[in-house]
Amino acid sequence: MRVTHTWTDETATIGVEGLNQTVRMLHITDSHVALIDERDGAHVAACERHCQRMASRHGTFHKMMAEASQLDLDFIALTGDIIHFPSQASVENARNSIAQVDVPVLYTAGNHDWHFPGLKGRDELRQAWWPTLKPLHHGRAAYARHEIGGIQFLLVDNSTYQINAQQLEFVKTHLANGSPTVLLTHIPLSLPTLRHPTIERWKAPILIGDPDWAIESRDRWGTGDDLPSTLDFVHTLAGAVNLVAVFCGHIHFPHTDSINPNAVQYVGAPGYDSKSRLVEFRPL
Ligand SMILES: [Fe+2]
Ligand SMILES: [Fe+2]
Repeated sequence: MRVTHTWTDETATIGVEGLNQTVRMLHITDSHVALIDERDGAHVAACERHCQRMASRHGTFHKMMAEASQLDLDFIALTGDIIHFPSQASVENARNSIAQVDVPVLYTAGNHDWHFPGLKGRDELRQAWWPTLKPLHHGRAAYARHEIGGIQFLLVDNSTYQINAQQLEFVKTHLANGSPTVLLTHIPLSLPTLRHPTIERWKAPILIGDPDWAIESRDRWGTGDDLPSTLDFVHTLAGAVNLVAVFCGHIHFPHTDSINPNAVQYVGAPGYDSKSRLVEFRPL
């Protein structure tokens, strides 16, 4: 399968051999909508400072969705940190903004979507808050598959910096069918050209499968050593001939580089800065 890529920070054109039609996707990540009210009374104090600092972000997301409704799209991909914490008010606001568009909106969570400031925990917190995020993921939080225009789009929640055995199995099973595949996920894979700018910005390589991220720093960022399934996931993607692209966010700056001879990883600039990427998959 021949695949070609051309891009800017706000666009991508991806040629895929064997496609019969063009597919247009808008990628938005890291909008960080931050609202809270008495329904989440126990967390109001911890969130107030964030809400003040991020007061315009729900308006930005609403406007971006309104503008997206005027574009000729097949679907929208939201790759996490769409809300800044899992308050009822943030989920409701994001859902109402999304309701302006009449194309499918695929969503996977980021590390913020399920985390209230001050709470300690990792996968157990994510498991606890996934139900609250149901209006966004529609009941398929850990992974989901959508086929659009002859491409399979796989959503995988990697927001704990790990891929578990079930997620790995899901990815391997669907890659094995040979169809052109696009992965939508929150945290980018560690790539040689991405490590350095990420460390500059965040003082740590907060990426998936990073080969040199010290355990003390991993612990501070809410993860541990890479699970065997996480490393297997990274190797699987590196060798996947039918993987076309990965779209992700998390680090709040744009970056684009190859994962393997066919696949490119597109890291999106943050939605809270009104940034998005319009992507066209075209027949070659
Ligand atoms: Fe983020
Ligand atoms: Fe994130």
